[in-house]
Amino acid sequence: MGARFDPSGPLRGTLRPPPDKSISHRAALIAAMGEGETAVEGYLDSADTRSTLAAVQMLGASVAQAAGPDVVDRGLRVQGVGLSSAVSTQIDPGRPETIDVGNAGTLLRLLPGWLAGQPHGTWTLDGDESIRRRPVDRIADPLAAMGARIRCREGRLTPVTIEAAPLSGIEYELPVASAQVKSCLLFAGLLAEGETRVLEPLPTRDHSERMLAAAGAEVERGEGWVAVRPAARLEPGEIAVPADFSSAAFFLVGALLVPGSDVSLVGVGLNPTRTGLLSILTRMGAEVEAEVEGERGGEPSGRLRVRASRLRGTEVGGAEVPLAIDELPLVALAACFAEGETTIADAAELRRKESDRIATVSAALRALGAEVETSEDGMRIVGGGGLRGGAIEAHGDHRIAMLGAIAGLASAEGVEVAGMDAAGVSYPDFGVDLASLRR
Ligand code: S3P
Repeated sequence: MGARFDPSGPLRGTLRPPPDKSISHRAALIAAMGEGETAVEGYLDSADTRSTLAAVQMLGASVAQAAGPDVVDRGLRVQGVGLSSAVSTQIDPGRPETIDVGNAGTLLRLLPGWLAGQPHGTWTLDGDESIRRRPVDRIADPLAAMGARIRCREGRLTPVTIEAAPLSGIEYELPVASAQVKSCLLFAGLLAEGETRVLEPLPTRDHSERMLAAAGAEVERGEGWVAVRPAARLEPGEIAVPADFSSAAFFLVGALLVPGSDVSLVGVGLNPTRTGLLSILTRMGAEVEAEVEGERGGEPSGRLRVRASRLRGTEVGGAEVPLAIDELPLVALAACFAEGETTIADAAELRRKESDRIATVSAALRALGAEVETSEDGMRIVGGGGLRGGAIEAHGDHRIAMLGAIAGLASAEGVEVAGMDAAGVSYPDFGVDLASLRR
């Protein structure tokens, strides 16, 4: 599906972006691991998070969805199966049960942690074309060190098959900063003997730690490490999902770039391990305010206000990268409109996302008239000229599709996005919400 985004008048108004994708995946998984019923307030309804619901249902959890007119009314009631009772409904015991993760990398990396330590069962996780290119050795290697029986295609790719086995806790130093790998090992640690300790080279999003602790798990944290002890049961009770900062980020950057804009985003998750984009944009000269208004289930949330601003180039790298990993494509877009050069470094992980985002972002921005150079771990953008416009390809990547839309609004001639339907992976109502802010 193609869609056209013409140059826009100011973006104005107040919007609550959809529930957080990252937290929704964890909410469904931890509710399924839990005892009894968990009420999840504001579960994201998108392609990715539907894959997670289907997976937990296949494993024996029952899920009732409550549809409401407002996103905050939408909720789930999940009847958990308990930590070590994930059932395999396989009919032929010689053939593993296949779980389709769709396009969801988070489900692909987190779920094996729970499955690996089950008392019995065999499961194969597979997904779409993009999932089949994404590495799983990053979880398979440490899980195997814990005693897991896990096999990947060519030793590193999906499909991945997990056979239940007894696990022992390990201390594991992550070779790359990855919240997905960390979370997978914490899940496995709940079912392992002894302590499981994960050392992080740089801080990454800590939603799993917060949610597990709130559900009663013994989670201990120090500088650069997190440890979990085996748990007999989890009792999440209630989980509230704030609006997704990563979805809010599209309007944040759109409002910065379209002259005369003034946009407020409410109910947004403001966990500091997610909001690295705010410090990057502030350094670039953005007029952006963030106010934490409360905390539920250990996750802070609040309001963002952003006004169109003159930007200057900056350098992004090091510890800032994991804190803004999914927003770096938007930093590159903003950089096209900033005075001077912007460099993004230490971001080789971008090549392993839903698409190779160093390649797809640079191709998209170049097609719209930008001057972009790439390196193995980043990009250099020469700003100042804005974007002419033209046509881009989303490459099945939701964040590239939405980036194209925002680029169109801020461009001189508009942007045609091929594959706009990819936005449904995280933000099915993106087009409607965007239209509501256009004046
Ligand atoms: C995610 C972690 C990040 C991020 C992804 C979601 C998560 O991936 O890019 O969109 O929910 O844990 P990595 O852990 O691979 O960096």
